[in-house]
Amino acid sequence: MTYRELYFELQKKTNKYLNLQAIKVLLEKDGNFSDFFNLIKHFDDDVKDEKKILENVDRVKGGEPLQYVTGYAYFVNSNYIVNKDVLIPRQETEELAVGLLKMIVKLFGKNPEIKIIDIGTGSGVLGIYLKEYFPESKVICTDISENCLKICNKNAALHNVKIETRQGNILDPIKDINDISVIVSNPPYIKDESTVDSQTLKYEPHLALFASPQEKFYEEILKAIDLNLLSNRFIIAFEIEENMENTLTHILESKYKGVIYKFEKDICGKTRFLYIVKDEGIVNA
Ligand SMILES: C[S@@+](CC[C@H](N)C(=O)[O-])C[C@H]1O[C@@H](n2cnc3c(N)ncnc32)[C@H](O)[C@@H]1O
Repeated sequence: MTYRELYFELQKKTNKYLNLQAIKVLLEKDGNFSDFFNLIKHFDDDVKDEKKILENVDRVKGGEPLQYVTGYAYFVNSNYIVNKDVLIPRQETEELAVGLLKMIVKLFGKNPEIKIIDIGTGSGVLGIYLKEYFPESKVICTDISENCLKICNKNAALHNVKIETRQGNILDPIKDINDISVIVSNPPYIKDESTVDSQTLKYEPHLALFASPQEKFYEEILKAIDLNLLSNRFIIAFEIEENMENTLTHILESKYKGVIYKFEKDICGKTRFLYIVKDEGIVNA
């Protein structure tokens, strides 16, 4: 059977689970085609592994996220390896990565020799993305899950960058905190299962999702670092749940008086990011 025949066969079965995008991605991956246009060039080639494709189609139809079926997820226009041990990177996290990148350039310049920590790195997307843009930086990715760090290391190899991975609870693996310039984290922050869609709940790692209380990780990260001890200029960038602005403002105002921070909205207008910085110019920029 050719890719063309299989493509039109699968198209007939298109439904809300198996949409056209999913068919394209599944076929692309079978032949390692870089994109759909590349696949079209090979439309009359025999399908490499028809049985595997049909099995994968069934998995997608059964509700499994396409990214886990193909083993890849896109993050800011690039592919990253994912499996059931890591969260599938989300659009908001792409926004965090791009927003932070701009801030780093403003505060530290285009290719600074700074130390960057990604806490709760999962597949490694944030740390690896930053390392690609700032090759002179030292990037340390931490996670409590050894399996996550295995995927993170595979992604570093895929992206041809050198990062360091350290396993442990929140900031425990970081002993040399003083010279850190950037801390980025998208920690677990979901309060309870009622707000999570059934597909995420069934397939994605709960370790990556839930925190009790919801602000636990932010509090522990801030508690673990003495903001005065960080390097002369620093940025702490967090992804947050949209309902957290008041709680986090209260924590910052009561325990970290004088600290400069700002909340930012995502493209949907929801408050999803918190930046804490040492450099007033950046906050008001
Ligand atoms: C929301 S996911 C974020 C993954 C990735 N940074 C991203 O944005 O796609 C949170 C990550 O925190 C990790 N994690 C959970 N509890 C942790 C802890 N106590 N210490 C360090 N990492 C933890 C999970 O394993 C998971 O990879």
